[in-house]
Amino acid sequence: MKNQPIKFYLNNQYVNYAPEKEYISVLDYLRLNEELTGTKEGCGEGDCGACTVLLGSLQKTPSGFWLKYESINSCIRFLPSIHACHLVSIEHLSKKGELLHPIQEEMKNANGVQCGFCTPGIVMSIYNLFLNNDFTDRKKVEESLQGNLCRCTGYGPIINAAKNVFEKYKRIKDELYISNKKIKEKLIAIREKEPFPYSVPKDLKAFKSFIRKNKNNTIISGATDVGLWINKELQRPKNPVFISHVDELKIIKMSKNFITVGSSVTYTKLLESLKPFYPELTEYLKRIGGEQIRNMGTIGGNIANASPIGDMLPPLIALKSEIKISNAESQIRNIQMEDFFIKYKVKDLKNNEFILSVKIPKPTKGLVFSNYKVSKRRDEDISSVCASFYFIINRGYIIEARLVFGGMAEVPKRAKHTENFLLGKPWTEDSFADSAKKIEEDFQPISDARASQEYRVLVAKNLLKKVFLQKSKACRGLMRHGKLLVGRTNFD
Ligand SMILES: Cc1cc2nc3c(=O)[nH]c(=O)nc-3n(C[C@H](O)[C@H](O)[C@H](O)COP(=O)(O)OP(=O)(O)OC[C@H]3O[C@@H](n4cnc5c(N)ncnc54)[C@H](O)[C@@H]3O)c2cc1C
Ligand code: FES
Ligand code: FES
Repeated sequence: MKNQPIKFYLNNQYVNYAPEKEYISVLDYLRLNEELTGTKEGCGEGDCGACTVLLGSLQKTPSGFWLKYESINSCIRFLPSIHACHLVSIEHLSKKGELLHPIQEEMKNANGVQCGFCTPGIVMSIYNLFLNNDFTDRKKVEESLQGNLCRCTGYGPIINAAKNVFEKYKRIKDELYISNKKIKEKLIAIREKEPFPYSVPKDLKAFKSFIRKNKNNTIISGATDVGLWINKELQRPKNPVFISHVDELKIIKMSKNFITVGSSVTYTKLLESLKPFYPELTEYLKRIGGEQIRNMGTIGGNIANASPIGDMLPPLIALKSEIKISNAESQIRNIQMEDFFIKYKVKDLKNNEFILSVKIPKPTKGLVFSNYKVSKRRDEDISSVCASFYFIINRGYIIEARLVFGGMAEVPKRAKHTENFLLGKPWTEDSFADSAKKIEEDFQPISDARASQEYRVLVAKNLLKKVFLQKSKACRGLMRHGKLLVGRTNFD
């Protein structure tokens, strides 16, 4: 029962394989089972991008399925989760004796390769960018390479190579683009006609049934947290259930006042759907992991992981989001996001429950919203401190304040003393300078490898000053008729 085969396409080949172990990574499968050693292993924890491959997966739309290719880190992705998918490794781009793929050709011409260890991963990341865009610019290329570490070439030639690809070639002529429809049909055939592996529910009903039968289970969505438990902590959590096929958890629904986001929505999709409502979140979201992690990691995983430095938690709490939770018997309960986190890594979620979706209110009048991530590296790093600030301003006065910090306590937490202090105060630099003193009443953070206690407190205070300075210009526009910001700042 448990070793039902996983069926998928690997490059041009159909695979029907029943692994002995549930936790075989896609990378190990490629290198050890298939002897496709072009895909490299560096860190084994999603950081370096050496193991980047493309994964084509079926995306459900009201009119049927479409096939989307995205870059992923194969070291922290487990084989059952790619059932009915198309796995594309570097070997698919050109075989021995064949011409190089345009991306490889441009990497060669632009001197984008020295030792070559990172090169397959970098080529696959550029391939992801190329397949999903008609045009690019330097910023987009840099973003697409956030998750790829090159120690020797330097990024200049690699960025030039990527830009040259877009200048000289059209994606519509690429083999994967041309074969999209044909491969989609093949994947649909697997999905519709073949039995799903035991640990891969095909829909919400099957997922609930799995939970009913396996009380002590481990939900695996993008595996960007769980992957590290397996690879680094050598854990083997019991009864894994891979939920990447449960389409009901991938919905994004817009209503008049809310955006409802399914728990398996990835950061990449979240970014697209929140952008029109909360453009303030765009840059912040792009600081989460690299492109591969954003293509895999989900909002539900970030919430359920309940880390005090989960980057999505402060903005979701600040925006008054609500979590919808279901159990295996379909009983539903809703809980305010800020009440979900009880203490360090302890959350209000029972064994037979899972997160269905998150309901995010749309912006209201007078809203000033800002998000900050402070980490040692700009890209691919975990926050030392992250913060989301939500203010409602009326006629130059703060009538509502929600200040949520990550990395300052054992759970993501509101600074309630500071909020109370700011309530009713004018939107001026003095109010913010004074409010910063309250931070110490709200938080006594710990010192750890990422940051000392003193540093965290200082950063939190400075972020409060920063939000005023950064948003003052926006407020002037927002509140022109309310005569907001009559005073000058000392920094004018
Ligand atoms: C290289 C790297 C960089 C990262 N960078 C960042 C970063 O910048 N910021 C950040 O916040 N995080 C970061 N992370 C952590 C991780 O990407 C996020 O926490 C991500 O959102 C987890 O989602 P997932 O789908 O991969 O979760 P998974 O790993 O699949 O699961 C995580 C936890 O959530 C549970 N779970 C998943 N879905 C559900 C559900 N629907 N209901 C109930 N429980 C569920 C799982 O059982 C597990 O306990 C990074 C991770 C890596 C490897
Ligand atoms: S081996 Fe480093 S990201 Fe996978
Ligand atoms: S070419 Fe050596 S690591 Fe990039």
